[in-house]
Amino acid sequence: MLRKLYYLFSPSQRLMVRRLAFLPYDIWDSLTGKRNNNIPPRGMIFTGAGDFINAGKLFLEFFRQYGELKPHHRVLDVGSGIGRMALPLTTFLSEEGSYEGFDIVNTGVKWCQKNISTHHPNFNFKLIALKNDLYSSEGDEAAELKFPYNNEEFDFVFLTSVFTHMVPSETKNYMKEISRVLKPSGKCLATFFVFDYQLPSTPIKPSFGFPVDHGYYKLMDPRVKSANVAFKYDYIEKELAHDNKLRIKKFVPGYWQGLEKNKDIDFQDILVFEKV
Ligand SMILES: C[S@@+](CC[C@H](N)C(=O)[O-])C[C@H]1O[C@@H](n2cnc3c(N)ncnc32)[C@H](O)[C@@H]1O
Repeated sequence: MLRKLYYLFSPSQRLMVRRLAFLPYDIWDSLTGKRNNNIPPRGMIFTGAGDFINAGKLFLEFFRQYGELKPHHRVLDVGSGIGRMALPLTTFLSEEGSYEGFDIVNTGVKWCQKNISTHHPNFNFKLIALKNDLYSSEGDEAAELKFPYNNEEFDFVFLTSVFTHMVPSETKNYMKEISRVLKPSGKCLATFFVFDYQLPSTPIKPSFGFPVDHGYYKLMDPRVKSANVAFKYDYIEKELAHDNKLRIKKFVPGYWQGLEKNKDIDFQDILVFEKV
């Protein structure tokens, strides 16, 4: 219900609504000395619910365990948001390692440049103005973007909760670009909602649904297409991976469909691709 209401606003109004809704908490945190200056104030965190610091730490473990991320790697964070994943990487990547992040929301990129790049010169953040009906009304088409990086530049690329907010033509273009910028045998870890796999046990609480069925993909809300997007496994394997010289190396189903939570899984499904 609240989610539906939130989707009625425009992308810039959504950022504003969040800032206003959390303003009393942010003021309270500042007045009582509870404010953690290493992370953005709550009202600025437009990138998802939950504990900001723990989500970053959890994903760093997934990057290491499932994506074989190493401290000397050159890393690309597509849809870097407001630094939730970059922050824990600042203590993991070594001086030989480096990080590039890009996003379409200016406030997130600016926060990261000011609060992360200033202290970690091997961390760079770029704004690329693109349209997305959840996050930004202005900019170019993501389906046409050529990533501003060289061929075979990265060891590891990741997208956390980004393909879950992109429509198929955009996702397809991004997978082509990811394959182009990855080194041979490089890995990409991306989260998805995959709607057609056989659950290993009976779901306990299937509460998150995709009522708008387009066959190989489904939407949560027809008016805001990027609100949440789910894909069929075969489409990911063939059209997104195989056709772009990538192969699925690992698939870790998430608990969004009602599986029991544990430390080795996320809410969303995790896929690891390897460049072949
Ligand atoms: C749910 S947030 C996740 C942010 C970040 N990956 C994280 O885990 O904290 C989704 C992010 O995707 C970004 N985004 C949406 N469309 C994009 C696109 N076409 N290219 C890059 N980023 C995009 C949004 O601006 C937003 O920061």
